[in-house]
Amino acid sequence: MRALIISEYGRSDVFKLQDIDQPKPGSHQVLIELKCASINPVDWKIRAGHLSLIIPKHWPRVLGVDCSGIVSEVGSAVKTFQPGDTVFGMSNPLRSQYGSYAQFSLVEKDSIARKPDGLSFSDAASIPVAGLTAYKALKLQIKLKPGQSVLINGASGGVGSFAVQIAKVLGAKITATCGADNIEFVKSLGADQVIDYQVQDVRSIKERFDGIFDASAKLNFSLAKPMLNRNGVYVTTVPDPQTILGMATCALFGGKKAYIVSAGSGAHVPEELSAIADMIVSGQIHPIIAKTIKLEDVAKAHEDSEQGHARGKTVVEI
Ligand SMILES: NC(=O)c1ccc[n+]([C@@H]2O[C@H](COP(=O)([O-])OP(=O)(O)OC[C@H]3O[C@@H](n4cnc5c(N)ncnc54)[C@H](OP(=O)(O)O)[C@@H]3O)[C@@H](O)[C@H]2O)c1
Repeated sequence: MRALIISEYGRSDVFKLQDIDQPKPGSHQVLIELKCASINPVDWKIRAGHLSLIIPKHWPRVLGVDCSGIVSEVGSAVKTFQPGDTVFGMSNPLRSQYGSYAQFSLVEKDSIARKPDGLSFSDAASIPVAGLTAYKALKLQIKLKPGQSVLINGASGGVGSFAVQIAKVLGAKITATCGADNIEFVKSLGADQVIDYQVQDVRSIKERFDGIFDASAKLNFSLAKPMLNRNGVYVTTVPDPQTILGMATCALFGGKKAYIVSAGSGAHVPEELSAIADMIVSGQIHPIIAKTIKLEDVAKAHEDSEQGHARGKTVVEI
């Protein structure tokens, strides 16, 4: 199969587009013939070796977590999918070295869902990591209710652009932060108030929030805590010492809560993927696909993502 592989950690020039053997699914795995993938910061974090302590060193490795496509083969224990099904979801780099920058990807059966007919392969591939992160943070961790207030820090990127729209569906009053170029864009997603983080320090806002979703992970629990209401909840996307300490403290003494969201965690990923897909098919939210690229352009897309100012998602057509 044609695959964009890496055989060592490094900068974006470690990618090589070449033919490698098509993998066989393990008993709980599904082989997907890919239609689309999408770019996430975790892809270049793995490529650069930032996660080398936890990711098995299996070379060659195909990066790319988000995927959509057609089931090609299933493992012996897989009863929920069969060849020909159209699906979308995530490959798990801890369990599979065959990610989604390739013609075929190996995924765990519990990390994918059926793709509804009304959802394009492109939109489907934009959902998994970013959409699940936003959905879990707002609905399952902050447990946002209609009329509650939420601050979404870093609202214009992959996670943030899903988060603003999902918070709107949940009926929240939304304050969002982003750079100057994205203010009108974030308002158009449904934010009630938008702050340019380059002009105003978000911590100077007088308002107190029921929830703070730190999509860009530029705060931490210590910095965010004074901005929360008495029983407010802070969720970040990247672990940091202050938030880990805050999680332990609130588990012991109660009060304001802190969480670190994880896109692929829990036993309900397929249902959560389907819930987000339903919001798209019913027109409540829409994925923001800023760019559609080919496998040959992934190295450049990684360089862009590493700048930390992506708008929405970049989808890779396989
Ligand atoms: N734990 C998980 O499971 C999980 C899942 C998904 C993502 N993540 C992590 O979450 C982070 C965001 O992911 P993403 O896909 O949304 O990235 P992205 O698409 O690259 O977006 C980054 C966003 O950060 C904003 N930003 C940059 N500097 C900022 C600042 N000083 N204050 C506030 N916002 C700022 C940018 O806004 P402007 O462009 O307007 O400047 C942009 O919207 C990454 O670190 C990623 O690794 C974790």
